[in-house]
This record gives sequence, C-alpha cells and structure tokens, in this order.
Amino acid sequence: MSDLQDYDLDQPISGTGLRQGLTSYGDTHFSLFLRKVFIKAAGYGEDALSRPIVGIINTGSGFNACHANVPQLVEAVKRGVQLHGGLAIEFPTISLHESFAAPTSMFLRNLMAMDTEEMIKAQPLDVCVMIGGCDKTVPAQLMGGISANKPVLPLVTGPMMPGSFRGQRLGACTDCRNSWAAYRRAELDIEDINGINEELAPTVGTCGVMGTASTIACMVVALGLMPFKGASAPAVSSARLRVAEETGRMAVAAASKIEERRPQAVLSKESFLNAIVVLQAIGGSTNAVVHLMAIINRHPAVTGEISLHTFDEIGKTTPLLVDLKPSGDNYMNDFHNAGGMLALLHTLRPLLHLGAKTITGETLGEKLDATPFKPFPYSKELIRSLSDPVYPHSALIVLYGNLAPGGAVLKAAASKDRHLLEYEGPAAVFENTADLSQRIDRDDLEVTKDSVLVLKGIGPIGNPGMPEAGVIPIPRKLQGVSDMLRISDGRMSGTAGGTIVLHVSPESAMVDSPFGVLQDGDVIRCSLSQRRLDVAVSDAELASRIAARKELWEAQGQHCLGKRVVGEQRRGYRGLYESCVNQAGEGADFDFLTARGPSEMR
Ligand code: FES
Ligand code: MG
Repeated sequence: MSDLQDYDLDQPISGTGLRQGLTSYGDTHFSLFLRKVFIKAAGYGEDALSRPIVGIINTGSGFNACHANVPQLVEAVKRGVQLHGGLAIEFPTISLHESFAAPTSMFLRNLMAMDTEEMIKAQPLDVCVMIGGCDKTVPAQLMGGISANKPVLPLVTGPMMPGSFRGQRLGACTDCRNSWAAYRRAELDIEDINGINEELAPTVGTCGVMGTASTIACMVVALGLMPFKGASAPAVSSARLRVAEETGRMAVAAASKIEERRPQAVLSKESFLNAIVVLQAIGGSTNAVVHLMAIINRHPAVTGEISLHTFDEIGKTTPLLVDLKPSGDNYMNDFHNAGGMLALLHTLRPLLHLGAKTITGETLGEKLDATPFKPFPYSKELIRSLSDPVYPHSALIVLYGNLAPGGAVLKAAASKDRHLLEYEGPAAVFENTADLSQRIDRDDLEVTKDSVLVLKGIGPIGNPGMPEAGVIPIPRKLQGVSDMLRISDGRMSGTAGGTIVLHVSPESAMVDSPFGVLQDGDVIRCSLSQRRLDVAVSDAELASRIAARKELWEAQGQHCLGKRVVGEQRRGYRGLYESCVNQAGEGADFDFLTARGPSEMR
C-alpha cells in the first residue's frame, strides 16, 4: 500500500505507490513532498493517495480504429479498481495500427515496447493494466511489461463484429484479401468492391478472424494473464466492459502480493509451452511465432529454454481444433459464442501444463476446475474435440536446411494446394519489393506454374520492419493458378493463406545468408514430412557466391556492421533499429533489450 501520511524524517523512504522511484534532489523527503504537491494539483486527496496505485495504459488514438473503444474500457477498469479500494491513474503510450504506421507497425513494435517498459518503471504505480489490441501492441506491451517486471495485466480491445454484403458475412481481413483478389480477376465490379469496402470492418475492434491480434489475445489467456472471456468478447459488447471491470478488480488483488505477481514470477517455461499449444490448436498467425520468441527472450529464466524447434515439436502432437478464418470458415464472435478460450482450454487439458501459475495466484488447472464448461452442439462445431480435429496436427511448422540454417516458418494448415508441401521446383527470384512490383505482371517474366517464387530483402534488417509481403502475388501470366510455393525472409498477415514459407533466417541482408545468394533457376526442395528447406547447390558453390557478394558490397561502399549490411548509415530510431534488431527466430527484438543482452552478431 502506498503511504503518504507524513514525511517523517526518521523513516527511510521506501515502499510502493507514490513513494517509489523518487527523483533525488539530494533530499528524498523533499522529493516526496514535491510529488505530493503535483499529484494534489490533479485533485487527489490523501485518502486516494493512500491506496494501491493501478496505472492504466491508454493506447486510444484517432489513428487506431482497433482501439476506438479504449475510453469506455478505461472507465470500466477504473470502476473495477475503485470498487475494490485501489486508485486508478491512466497514462498514454504509443499506439500502433497496422494500416497507419509506416513503413510497418512491426518497425515500431520495439519502440512501443521501450516506451511501455520505461513508463511502467518510471512512474509510481504498483500494478499496471495494459490496454492493447491491434497486432503489434499487445506483444510490445508484454515485452516491455516483462522487462519492467511490475505486475501487469493485459486487456485487449476485443475483436470487431463481422459485416454483411448481399447476405454474405464478411470480416477483416481475410475477406479483404479474397475480395480484392476477386476484383483483380474481374469477378467483382467497382460497385461490388465499394459495397464490400463499407462492410469489411463494420465496428471498432481488432480484425474479426484468427489473425495476429486474435492469436495473441488467445495466447495471453493461455499464459494466465487474462480472464477466459478476455480474448474473444467482441469489442462492442457489454461482456467486453465486464472483462475490463474484472481486470480492474484483479489488478487491485495483484497489488496486495506484488512480489508473487510480477510477470517474471508468474510466467514460467510451462506458461509459454501452453501458449504454443494454443497457437497450434487455433491455427494462429505466423507472426505470433516472432512475437512470442521476443516475449520469451525478455524473461531471464525462460530465455534459451524455448526455440523455434519447440513450436514444431508441440505442433506434432497438437491438432488444429478451431474452425475460424483464415484456416476455417468462421469469425471471432462465433468463437466467443461457442465458449471461446474456456471451451478450448478444457478441450486441450491433456496437452496443457496445468500447474502453470496465473496472475490470480491460482494454477491454470485450478482455474479450469473452478470454471467448468459443458460442450453443446454449436460449441462442438466451432471448437472440435481432440478426436475430430479440423486439421490433424502441425498447423504451423518450422523448416531447416541449407537455405534456412536459422529456420523458417510455414503455416501448413493455410496451404491451398497441398502437393506444394512436398515439392521441388526452379526458383524465380525477386531481389526486393521494388524488383517484384516492376516484374511480377510482365509477360516476359521467366516463370511457369511449376516455379518457386522467391522474394529477398524483406527481413528485419533488409526492409526495416519485415513487411507482410510474404504472400507474393501469383504472376498475371499464370491466370487460373491459385497457389504456388512462395518463399521469403519476410512475414505475412495472420489473415492470409497459401503455401508460404516465411521468416527465412539468416535473412538476405546478412552477409552469410545462403538465401541471399539464391539465383534464378536454382532448384528448391521443400518437404513438410522432413521439415527441410534446401537448394540443390553445393556448400562450396554457396560459400563462393557468399564471398563474391560480400566483395561486391564492399566495392560498392556498403556499410557492414558485423554480419549485417545496412546500406547507408542512418540517424535516429532507424539507425538504432538497423544496428540492433536481431533475426526473426529470436523475435526481431533489439539485442540490448533481451534478457541476454547484445548478441555477438554486431
Ligand atoms: Fe488492427 Fe487487424 S488492423 S487488428
Ligand atoms: Mg494483421
């Protein structure tokens, strides 16, 4: 409890609430006196200031429709806090929306993580409720929250409702892509596409399919940091407001046991293994692999215990159970109506580590025991049983091989042409996104339906922020082909599908990247059964191409920083980003922010 009753000079200043982190003017008692002057300027009385202080991160922004309900959520959290004897104080941090953050919101995720960490640390709050939602925001908040290590409670804004066009349900953003592709094929006219545009995001909230935002929200419940309904209650529902009020109550409870509720104390290796089981069972976004690795690598006791390999191993024994777009047919509000994460976690019980702790102090198993769930016909349709899955296992797989010594990720469940999962074909290589957009639709492009499309230069460093350009469009001259094997060092949206190999590491901008020296016509082999991604080029030939490329770069005066190539040296955040971001398999975090500190890479 914070205690501001006096400035007794005989008492050392310590403890929580307003007394923590006092600026020293050489007289800490004076610092407390001064802090009280200014907090009183905001209208707080002594009684209010004697309560545990719950900070609430407000990420509302006019540029973030996914967060447009944040003001109502803040009010509901405050109600929960104040009904249970705490003092709620909101404050802003950066807000990131997918469509309004250039060059990508991923480029700014680490900045938001730094903002979150430093503001939680700097300000005199006991516990923090972190309101996020849109794709990169919740990972950023978890990364920062774990590093700050004060008790943190994530609260997501919740999914938007689906829309409807001529009797067909629509939802951002799987249907954004499908509809746009149909318009490009002239199956829809301008009137149709304009009508669809009005309906794709009919309410505030995050994308209404199992994209990145929904995936992360489900994983946060599996981590034990949010109520069961916290992932799926629609953004515009009263249930969402009740989750917010409940979060306020839980925050005050956490303030009475601060040491035990710190994220580094609550979260263990088992918590993260549970999150990965859920990721596989929901057929979640490939982006979640990058984010979860970044989150794990912020935790001093878990970093090094989980790697990309762990995701693949868990996938081998975890079926895909949830029938949601993009892997299935339904929307997040359907998942909510079918029982949401409560139903899913009960179904997954045999695969979960039930002894993992949660933010309430109970174990996950105890929480499930206290909240039974009885399946009903609709719930069984949307959330299948272990014996009747949507997809048997390995929704997300990890590939290694001479083309990706550091690993690559493939969402096998979203493949549209399954023979591409065991495939060999000649590469059609694009050096970067500019090269791609210049040549992809040209009639003289050397490509056939058997080619493997390769896009370089979209990794964490190569195109800062690792854009979601991994879904390389099918060349216009191949009319009628609906899927091809496509490989890049970038990401794809969680709402997209196809046979798409992503996050190839080391990325092409790294000096020693075999992917970076791939050439047109090189024969690529991808095997799901063997988890391999190889190119039929000898080690000696790859080494000689790598050496020749390095020489060329040096001759061109490119700036090499250890193993990375960063073009011209930049100032500001971009300079920091290019010199410190690590590879996708490590989370694309800044190396100096990880629990292990700067890597040898630079
Ligand atoms: Fe925000 Fe999809 S754009 S969650
Ligand atoms: Mg997205």
